[in-house]
Amino acid sequence: MAALAVIRLGGRNIRQGVLFPFQRYHPVSAFSTSPFLASPDDKLKERQTQMMARGLPKKKPIPGVKHVVVVASGKGGVGKSTTAVNLALGIAAIGSVKEVGLLDADVYGPSIPKMMNLKGNPELSDKNLMIPLMNYGIRCMSMGFLVEETAPIVWRGLMIMSAIEQLLRRVDWGELDYLVIDMPPGTGDVQLSISQNVPICGAVIVSTPQDIALLDARRGAEMFQKVSVPVLGLVQNMSVFRCPKCDHETHIFGAEGTRRLAESLGLDLLGDIPLHMNIRETCDLGRPVVVSDPHSNEAKAYINIAREVMNRLS
Ligand SMILES: Nc1ncnc2c1ncn2[C@@H]1O[C@H](COP(=O)(O)OP(=O)(O)O)[C@@H](O)[C@H]1O
Ligand SMILES: [Mg+2]
Repeated sequence: MAALAVIRLGGRNIRQGVLFPFQRYHPVSAFSTSPFLASPDDKLKERQTQMMARGLPKKKPIPGVKHVVVVASGKGGVGKSTTAVNLALGIAAIGSVKEVGLLDADVYGPSIPKMMNLKGNPELSDKNLMIPLMNYGIRCMSMGFLVEETAPIVWRGLMIMSAIEQLLRRVDWGELDYLVIDMPPGTGDVQLSISQNVPICGAVIVSTPQDIALLDARRGAEMFQKVSVPVLGLVQNMSVFRCPKCDHETHIFGAEGTRRLAESLGLDLLGDIPLHMNIRETCDLGRPVVVSDPHSNEAKAYINIAREVMNRLS
């Protein structure tokens, strides 16, 4: 892109054509889908997107796995892993026999070993594939099984891709009806790599109703839409805290932000999880609420989300 700039040289003003190394921002066209307002820049961008889509790797199914569901968000600490664990247990708890797996793709901060009370190195099958560890009927795989719990993992570029590839392709899942993948926060290489390599049936986006989390959740949802992964809906986490002594309700992170975001994106709200000590404590103890207190309101909230997810996939 070029423009004329006035440059001062030796006390004189000189008009000079300059090249910008970046694209100029078009406030109108950035928000408009009207073909009448499309600028040459927009056409170029559209062409680039089409070319990139053509060059994307072919998605290869994970052998034996029927449905892959990812649990994602933009931000860390909003309750992705807690939701992923209880969603997997919720799916397994509903009705007919279902084989469910849980893959911890958060290689930076694996939480599944602790939340599912599992540790140890996976054994190898005769095909040299890692055999998932199992608890509460869920087959689990995590980078946390392969490295010391306290060892710092310093990831560099390709290492991370190879770690993800191992977790996706070098595991003997057997026959699974559902594989729930707990994603790391953000919209970076790991999320893109998984979305482009594996056929994902749907993404569940978790967010607190707080503005700063919603901004990132929107980015997360839009990333999946861009790479043609269906977004099943949003989960609003930690929206309400009910005082156990006086029953007063407080919306610590805001009340309905995630619901409003879902509406603005044309997506469904799959459920609403309260901020509750039971949820935090049971996860820290490695006995998630859906298995340790299945009749509690907290467990029911997760089971309802599991039902919503399954309904959308059937
Ligand atoms: N609804 C909830 N009520 C209480 N604590 C929660 C709830 N959801 C998550 N937590 C707690 O918040 C912390 C962060 O949750 P986590 O699932 O690890 O987030 P993420 O995977 O998005 O980083 C954990 O300590 C977890 O136990
Ligand atoms: Mg996590």
